[in-house]
Amino acid sequence: MKLLEDKIRSCGRALNDDVLLVDMFLNHQVDCELMKAIGDEFYRIFKDEGITKIATVEASGIAPSAMAALAFKVPMVILKKQASVLMDGKMLQTEVYSFTKKKSYQLTLKKEFITENDRVLLIDDFMANGEAAMGAAKLIEMTGATIAGIGIVISKNFQPGMEKIKAAGYNVASLAQVAEMGEGYIKFVGE
Ligand code: G4P
Repeated sequence: MKLLEDKIRSCGRALNDDVLLVDMFLNHQVDCELMKAIGDEFYRIFKDEGITKIATVEASGIAPSAMAALAFKVPMVILKKQASVLMDGKMLQTEVYSFTKKKSYQLTLKKEFITENDRVLLIDDFMANGEAAMGAAKLIEMTGATIAGIGIVISKNFQPGMEKIKAAGYNVASLAQVAEMGEGYIKFVGE
């Protein structure tokens, strides 16, 4: 997605060959017009998949997911990183390990919000090692629902996540695929 790649170039910054800073527009300050365009792009890609719910992992997946949910006219479900005492009802959980943050968390879903008849589009802001996406997909599938697609805003294709998700058979689309980066430069797939 050209608009997104241009934004990454103009407002993002590769801190090193591993970490891309995008807090100007995606995960701290948020460019809502860009999020709207991203939501519309996910709609264009997945509109024929019979999507009934958008799911995402808190926190930075919420903005693009909300815009996609508006485009699809379906609810958005936020997978929580921990159970709250306020969450009554039956909960499903799976453990996810973050290589970036070097800690595990219990990804949590209240069962009533996704059911076996749902066809879910899972959206996340970053694909790095693929642990969050794999964990989220597994959690959603515990309900009997189908993962009809996985939409990623930025994938770092030099890390294992994208390959892992494709090898698992998921229909995945990433709007900005970083082939490689280093201090001061970013190269997208196809460049
Ligand atoms: P994985 O899910 O693909 O395995 O990735 P990993 O555990 O390694 O990283 C998870 C967290 O780190 C996610 O944030 C993800 O957005 C973030 N992350 C990974 N690579 C980058 C990067 O290059 N730049 C930035 N800015 N973030 C990155 P999170 O813990 O879910 O945080 P949040 O959604 O609450 O903001």
